[in-house]
Amino acid sequence: MTTASAPGKIILFGEHAVVYARPALAAPVFQAQAKVEVRDSSRLGVWIDAPNISLRAEYSALAPTHALRAAIDGVFHALSLPAAPCLNIHIQSQIPVASGLGSGAAVSVALIRALSAHLGQPLSDEQVNALAYQTETIYHGTPSGIDNTVITYARPVYYRRGEPIQTLRVGAPLHLLIADSGIPAPTRESVAAVRQLWQADSARWEAVFDKVGQLAQAARAALQAGLPQELGHLMNENHALLQEMTVSCSRVDALVETARNSGAWGAKVSGGGRGGNLIALVAPGSAESVSAALLAAGAVRVLQTEVA
Ligand code: MEV
Repeated sequence: MTTASAPGKIILFGEHAVVYARPALAAPVFQAQAKVEVRDSSRLGVWIDAPNISLRAEYSALAPTHALRAAIDGVFHALSLPAAPCLNIHIQSQIPVASGLGSGAAVSVALIRALSAHLGQPLSDEQVNALAYQTETIYHGTPSGIDNTVITYARPVYYRRGEPIQTLRVGAPLHLLIADSGIPAPTRESVAAVRQLWQADSARWEAVFDKVGQLAQAARAALQAGLPQELGHLMNENHALLQEMTVSCSRVDALVETARNSGAWGAKVSGGGRGGNLIALVAPGSAESVSAALLAAGAVRVLQTEVA
């Protein structure tokens, strides 16, 4: 048996604008992981068992655009296998789907790693990242590549489409709460909605994306200098621009307000938005009280994580 795991992720700054080649910051979330086990089988075919999404199927019965099939096909193609092997693949993920935490990319990365290693040809991080990106493209159209990158390399990144990956240096650890609004919201849909806005008035939205990119640059500097209060302020500004892009929603806005009113330095949507998760930056001493306030205000789950 061969196993591989991959973490979830949060976008700290710059979601959506990153699709339009502005910089963004993201970090892995090790508290929520996807795990894949691959075993040889006596049964013909490649059988997938993914209880989280109630899927049990032979992989070739899935549509070619299904993310799991795309990832498996990608590995078989990359390894130039002479014939399809007989395998059982078990996929278990603690990362809620459609919540902005990169569940799809984490499953792809863990699957590509476990499968290629089981077949005796483990792929390099660079190859895993490229294949996971290809899978994201088939599945959700126009991804920027930030999700697969932060998840493959499992470290905080400064990311700009088309540029080499830069690891983020963190001057002082950041304490973050990740609060689930309980509203599932596929990233594919919010990305498509922003694209429609941009197509209707590209000058207006390019200007908004520029502002988001400037915030991401300022946030990188504040992060390196270890200035969490400044970062909190920048997060609030980023959230306002995400509201303008129509990727927040009333429930998320209310939770963002709750986090700020109960002592967080800043809070914002994280990821695709229109539901999913928000992040709140807190002083270590106020993590418990802000978390309790978020739960009391209706968050269905609050994770605590540190970016260090
Ligand atoms: C999703 O985690 C981040 C988005 O910017 C989409 C992308 O970058 O592909 C919304």
